[in-house]
Amino acid sequence: MIDKINQLRAEIEAINASSLDEVEALRIKYLSKKGAITALMQDFRTVPAEQKRELGQKLNELKTVVTDRLAALREALENTDTVEDSLDLTRTAAPMPLGSRHPLSLVKDEIISIFSRLGFTIAEGPEIEDDWHVFSSLNFAEDHPARDMQDTFFIQRNPDVLLRTHTSSVQSRVMEHTQPPIRIICPGRVYRNEAISARAHCFFHQVEALYVDENVSFADLRQTLLYFAREMFGPETKIRLRPSYFPFTEPSAEMDISCNLCGGKGCGFCKHTGWVEILGCGMVDPNVLDACGIDSKKYTGFALGMGVERITNLKYQISDLRMFSENDKRFLEQFR
Ligand code: DAH
Repeated sequence: MIDKINQLRAEIEAINASSLDEVEALRIKYLSKKGAITALMQDFRTVPAEQKRELGQKLNELKTVVTDRLAALREALENTDTVEDSLDLTRTAAPMPLGSRHPLSLVKDEIISIFSRLGFTIAEGPEIEDDWHVFSSLNFAEDHPARDMQDTFFIQRNPDVLLRTHTSSVQSRVMEHTQPPIRIICPGRVYRNEAISARAHCFFHQVEALYVDENVSFADLRQTLLYFAREMFGPETKIRLRPSYFPFTEPSAEMDISCNLCGGKGCGFCKHTGWVEILGCGMVDPNVLDACGIDSKKYTGFALGMGVERITNLKYQISDLRMFSENDKRFLEQFR
């Protein structure tokens, strides 16, 4: 029996395999119910008692040797990737998924690009503002409802520190330190104390435009608006101006464009009127020019302000404002 054990041991130490199937075949050959080692275990029962100790030890060793050897072979075959195999410098890189721009950024950039073709340059101002730039310099009366806590976020209970409610504040910031000609466009985020719903949000985005020079007229405003509307919504677009009121413009107007969904025929989107409102505008009130240190006898100007969400809604029919800030990838990926 001892010879058999030694012989098997020598055989096992030399075994090799080139596939996992071969390893399995070896396991069956030695360790299965009908395997060589199992057979030896059976013979062991008949061994005289005084040899049991020595032979038992040898048999156990043999079993360990074969189990270890088979495990080593299996492992070697499972990890066949050597550095040379996996490093192929000529292989094309895995494609990197590209991100997409936010729809509000796309529309904001388009507005900027249209106005920059007319010679407007970008101006920016702070989101945390003071009363003067947001309200007083823009001719808001002391008791104007916009100054109420219900509409405006004040910071630190200080009525002089607030989140700007419109980008018109950038107008006064620029006019304070620049003499005409001024031709600026001011994109930015604004805040209002509103409950969040599909139609209202506590923050949104606006773009403001301001043109101040000698002899700027309402006709200049109208032509600028028409150019903007046609560049943004297509050459067939019509505009109409309705009289309105803003403290900082006189006269003031709101501009509608012919509904870009039905072309003005009337549909559910434009409530069957054929028109949709897109912005507010007017001639800068002389009080505003004077408050900002610009001679209102010499200069006139026009201003306009629009909501970026509103324009985006018209371009892409996104009517729920909450979509813009929820960061749902399924929504954002549609703007590739
Ligand atoms: N600031 C106004 C708002 O937030 C929008 C606006 C209206 C801006 C008329 C203007 C303007 O410059 O002339 O509703």
